[in-house]
Amino acid sequence: MDIKNLRPLTGEGRKIYIETYGCQMNVNDSEVVLSIMQDEGFRYTEDIAQADVIFVNTCSIRDNAEQRIWGRLKEFKQYKKRNKSLLIGIIGCMAERLKEELIEKENIVDIVAGPDSYRDLPRLVRQASDGATAVNVLLSREETYAEISPVRLDKNGVSAFISIMRGCNNMCAYCVVPYTRGTERSRNPETIIAEAKTLFEGGYREVTLLGQNVNSYLWNKDGNKTDFPALLAAVAEISPLLRVRFSTSHPKDLSDELLHTMARYPNLCRAIHLPAQSGSTRMLELMNRKYSREWYLDRIASIRRILPDCAISTDIIAGFCTETEQDHKDTLSLMESVGYESAFMFKYSERPNTKAARHFKDDVPDDVKTQRLTQIIQLQNELSLKSNKKDVGREFEVLIEGVSKRSENQFFGRTSQNKVVVFDRKPSLKIGDYVNVKINDCSSATLMGEVI
Ligand code: SAH
Ligand code: SF4
Ligand code: F3S
Repeated sequence: MDIKNLRPLTGEGRKIYIETYGCQMNVNDSEVVLSIMQDEGFRYTEDIAQADVIFVNTCSIRDNAEQRIWGRLKEFKQYKKRNKSLLIGIIGCMAERLKEELIEKENIVDIVAGPDSYRDLPRLVRQASDGATAVNVLLSREETYAEISPVRLDKNGVSAFISIMRGCNNMCAYCVVPYTRGTERSRNPETIIAEAKTLFEGGYREVTLLGQNVNSYLWNKDGNKTDFPALLAAVAEISPLLRVRFSTSHPKDLSDELLHTMARYPNLCRAIHLPAQSGSTRMLELMNRKYSREWYLDRIASIRRILPDCAISTDIIAGFCTETEQDHKDTLSLMESVGYESAFMFKYSERPNTKAARHFKDDVPDDVKTQRLTQIIQLQNELSLKSNKKDVGREFEVLIEGVSKRSENQFFGRTSQNKVVVFDRKPSLKIGDYVNVKINDCSSATLMGEVI
């Protein structure tokens, strides 16, 4: 892997513009796609008006995610009018879910490519240039894009994503991901470690290892057996100056071995994203999450015991099928007992063909979902504020990620616990440096401090 290919190539050549929706895996996939297209001679542009090809990397996780993309496609008509040879490609999860329907419904779409067919994009683009429709939505059992060096599209040059596996085998009843991304498969660890090394040598100081369920990462080929704790340790050993994060952990697979591995390496960041989805065991069963409230709380107890300074965050779904007021209260009480640092919170959105759509009724009225979600968000704001207040007066090592949006005179960065810290700039400091910051004040979203 080559350091000089880390950043996008610009200059002469046909121009490609990529817009990305959805999760971190999609962000990283767009970087893989750009790498493939650069090899085909395309050059990257941030100006959509310059584009010869527009790719929209899409998300299907909730209905509103898809609605946003339909709206965006309507806006693209103007570019197509101005440039008759412009090609528009829908890639990613919505492409996989809707297939040809995308072309039939919106006649400006030329290319449809699912998450496992990105190597085929150059051919699909050629085919579309010749005026034919170009669709590839085949899912694969093997594809991991293992040896492709993603072209980094992050703005700071400090923090990057590395996908370590693809797909998901969990079949949570509400979730579309197993259908859009196919079965779970792990990527060759040597290529993961090489990619992290290249990033570190190129100035990056933080990598986030990505998968839908990273705890079940397993490579077992050619006499090389690597599980997730072993992979984490290998990446951590690249340098103590490289911070390593990972997402997402599934509670059913979060082992004490993983926690002990984290405890051994200070550069394995003290933050675990452990989506609970609900605090009611009855709901968890219906969701097919394969753990109970008690199991989840036992995992939290292990984290507290082995990694006392670890932040814990979650995802919560409000108003899943048959959810009662008592189930909802169980979710609130779970959130309180854990004391989450942060959370992503959603209203349940029925997705076609999932187990829930086929077998359960989406019977919680929308206003009840909204009301429950509001309570969940309110509680989380209180919990985040409480957690941040505990940090006031303490010192943290912060990795500087950029200039604060609010003021040119301030930097922002993160603690190992993944909390954002804002502090005054000093001429001796630059983006990518580690700095010790004393926290003086906070809101529910941000810590404010000074360099010491
Ligand atoms: N693999 C990850 C999550 C991927 S999706 C995990 O299991 O944790 C991210 C989050 O979106 C999920 O954790 C869930 O909270 C939410 N989500 C998924 N499907 C949803 C749906 N149909 N309606 C509302 N939220 C959903
Ligand atoms: Fe969806 Fe569940 Fe897989 Fe996460 S673990 S991607 S929620 S099926
Ligand atoms: Fe969305 Fe696909 Fe990610 S549905 S959340 S982009 S895996």
